[in-house]
Amino acid sequence: MTTVYLNGDFIAKEAAKLSVDDRGFVFGDGIYEVVRVIEGRIFAWHEHEARMARGLGAVRIPFGPSDVAGLEAVCNRLVADNNLRSGEATVYLQVTRGAAPRTHYFPPAGTPPTVYAATSKFTPSADMREKGIKAITFPDFRWARCDLKTVNLMGAVLARQAAHEYGAYEALLIRDGMLTEGAATNAFAVIDGVVRTYPLSNYILPGVSRMYAVESARAIGVTVSEDPVTEAEMRGAAELFIAGTTTDVAPIVSLDGTPVGDGTPGPVTRRVQKEFLKRLYGGG
Ligand SMILES: Cc1ncc(COP(=O)(O)O)c(C=O)c1O
Repeated sequence: MTTVYLNGDFIAKEAAKLSVDDRGFVFGDGIYEVVRVIEGRIFAWHEHEARMARGLGAVRIPFGPSDVAGLEAVCNRLVADNNLRSGEATVYLQVTRGAAPRTHYFPPAGTPPTVYAATSKFTPSADMREKGIKAITFPDFRWARCDLKTVNLMGAVLARQAAHEYGAYEALLIRDGMLTEGAATNAFAVIDGVVRTYPLSNYILPGVSRMYAVESARAIGVTVSEDPVTEAEMRGAAELFIAGTTTDVAPIVSLDGTPVGDGTPGPVTRRVQKEFLKRLYGGG
């Protein structure tokens, strides 16, 4: 039996029911997180917690930082109850503005947010890590608050579907001629030995893995520049890679069907990946 958490209760997944008036369902009016669990230990909880609290505050869902802090214990209990203390797992967390008759403006004060969490077993892909992934490019027509992890993911859904139909793992998004990020990962290019990635702004999600990838690169003496990569630079880059909670650092070996570099994971990517994995499996 899979146990999930819904509004204060730990219950069987089949028993978890939501109102059709839930604003997460009707408007995509909610914020979510995905955390990685390794041998029962949540990786980078405080970074995920801070991002979630910031997001909820930015969209004015009344679920404050201390409420978000309380979700750590929820995650730990779900991991234990679902026998996921060994091996790897992910926990999905979602808080919506709650259920109320449909109005675009906020529901009456006092409407309780809907709080949901669920965990599943996770097996990292050795192939993705070792052999790398294929990517396509796709227009970044998402809204202008990509820094918020809202459950409204239409841009990412359409981009990932285009990648899927192409036989690729990720879609690299292009806005105003620049590579912003992947549909569900942050994106990096290695150009003249420098790791380049889009600066933190309203146009990308401040990825936790992005932060660890940047830190890993700097720790091994690789220069990182948060200077946007143009589409032309991206197509000519020696190496490309992505980073995300369920992706780790993954090399991109082909883009729109054209090999990246020599079509195998590049040396800088490999070194950054090695350092990143040390952090992931060693603590964090
Ligand atoms: C748009 C987008 N960018 C980047 C990421 C990577 O973020 P993180 O490393 O925190 O998982 C995600 C994760 O889902 C994402 O959806």
